[in-house]
Amino acid sequence: MKTDVLDFQSVRLDDARHQVVILDQTKLPNETVYRTLETAEDVWDAIYKLEVRGAPAIGIAGAYGLYIGMKHVESENFDDFYEKLKKVKAYLGSSRPTAVNLFWALDRMERVVLENKDATVAEIKEIMRAESEVIRAEDEAVCKSIGEYSLSLLKPGMGILTHCNAGTIATAKYGTALAPIYLGQERNYGFKVFADETRPLLQGARLTAWELNEAGVDVTLICDNMASIVMKNGWVNAVLVGCDRVAANGDTANKIGTSGVAILAKKYGIPVYVHAPLSTIDLETKTGDDIHIELRPGEEVYKTWYEKPMAPEGIKTYNPAFDVTDADYITAIITEKGIAYPPYEVSLAKLFE
Ligand code: MRU
Repeated sequence: MKTDVLDFQSVRLDDARHQVVILDQTKLPNETVYRTLETAEDVWDAIYKLEVRGAPAIGIAGAYGLYIGMKHVESENFDDFYEKLKKVKAYLGSSRPTAVNLFWALDRMERVVLENKDATVAEIKEIMRAESEVIRAEDEAVCKSIGEYSLSLLKPGMGILTHCNAGTIATAKYGTALAPIYLGQERNYGFKVFADETRPLLQGARLTAWELNEAGVDVTLICDNMASIVMKNGWVNAVLVGCDRVAANGDTANKIGTSGVAILAKKYGIPVYVHAPLSTIDLETKTGDDIHIELRPGEEVYKTWYEKPMAPEGIKTYNPAFDVTDADYITAIITEKGIAYPPYEVSLAKLFE
């Protein structure tokens, strides 16, 4: 690899300084800026503004946020401590609604607290710190495993199209949809990757193109509306994407534009592989219709990233951050425990047995 892009840590805990440290993803690719977050409010803000983003990274940040939010709570009484924890947890959960990893990580943190309600508050805080670090460490192993399963479906020299950024900085390490590309790079697979720019927040242009370029991968940046021509040209053999929430029937929420890419891929006979840590699969959500899609400010569509607004001031906008790809368009869902194929109602449930 050209540089060790895999060494960039998008989110980590600096417990000695009572801080969460994030790589501010809104500054990439032009600046590498690390920001320190000292309160649950700082973490909420960083998640909302996408300074830390990508479903697994949001989950890790949420777990750290709950820990640092509770670290300074003075009370020695468990009930008082727990009342406060429920408030901080609900607050952090209100930052972004679609990625289920955030809720999964916050629930997991609450669970260890309840399991240890007989410990002292000081001990509980230490248990929370340890659990948040386990969540981060597990994610790294999960992503590596997803990468290996995904790579088993790919062949050297393949053309790959990816949308948004499901890369190393969206996770603890390796990424999900980009994990097989990194593993393939180490093993000389010679993939040729097309990165959709991913309007409106340009995660594909700013983050995926940057990550893969740093790693020395052959990556070509395209505008979102060029996906069809590269597929028609026969340059794409597989579509690899991440996800924010997979429903029990396999319907998958991912970055806005993913469903269009999947529909095109079906037209051209190209497989679509969704990369999903089990923490992103939500069996409680029956179908895609039950997934809450985040709506974001219109400024992102006509102002953000431009020196001057590129549409009339005050123009009406519609800015959903995610869309749902119907399970029919998904060839396989790749998890750390194996590859699920349709019918997903059966194969996804089996993964949790
Ligand atoms: O709004 P974002 O940038 O957080 O959206 C991210 C995505 O849609 C990713 O594909 C998904 O979270 C998976 S990241 C491994």
